[in-house]
Amino acid sequence: MKFNEQQFKLETLKKEFCELLRSTRREGVDYVIEDLESLGFFDAPASTKFHLNYDGGLCEHSLNVCKVGLMLREEMIKMAPESESYLPKDSVIIATLLHDVCKADIYKKVMKKQKNQFGVWEEVPGFEVDYSNFPMGHGEKSVIRLLLSGLELTDDEMLAIRWHMTAWDLPFQSPEQKGNLNTARDICPLCSLVQSADTLASNIIERKEENPT
Ligand SMILES: [Fe+2]
Ligand SMILES: [Fe+2]
Repeated sequence: MKFNEQQFKLETLKKEFCELLRSTRREGVDYVIEDLESLGFFDAPASTKFHLNYDGGLCEHSLNVCKVGLMLREEMIKMAPESESYLPKDSVIIATLLHDVCKADIYKKVMKKQKNQFGVWEEVPGFEVDYSNFPMGHGEKSVIRLLLSGLELTDDEMLAIRWHMTAWDLPFQSPEQKGNLNTARDICPLCSLVQSADTLASNIIERKEENPT
């Protein structure tokens, strides 16, 4: 992609992200956007080699999770009208758009060795992770970052962001953490919605044929 096209894509993603976030009119969203900008959120990839591993991928992933989350919410309300009361639209937008802000400061650009189509080793640009800026975990780091930025979060939003990695994290959690996670899912339907939206966006919308994980 040419530089101007790339810049245009990054700006378009950022604009869409900020407009959606501001649509919630939640106290503190402007501070969050300022902090995300200085952490590099809008330029970061979503992963080193899996989904959306290019500049702007993290913002694109967050928007995908938000769109899937809003679609799931609509469908859930059609099938179970009472769910509207525990799946407020603003909470879906906040929890999906901001679930991965923990990744904003972990990617470093590096040159990596890779075999080309002729089997010859060559250096290509890529990413590595470096957690040293604020090694605070994943979902819990997102919640803490947002609170430090001054965002008002409901308990349900904090739980949904904290536990969005369920399927990937579960085997590595202590019995106490597993108990917390199971209780969070029982008392907070937003947790299930955010987990599902994250999985569907990563594994279907952002699926890489050559690397389908
Ligand atoms: Fe995540
Ligand atoms: Fe995610």
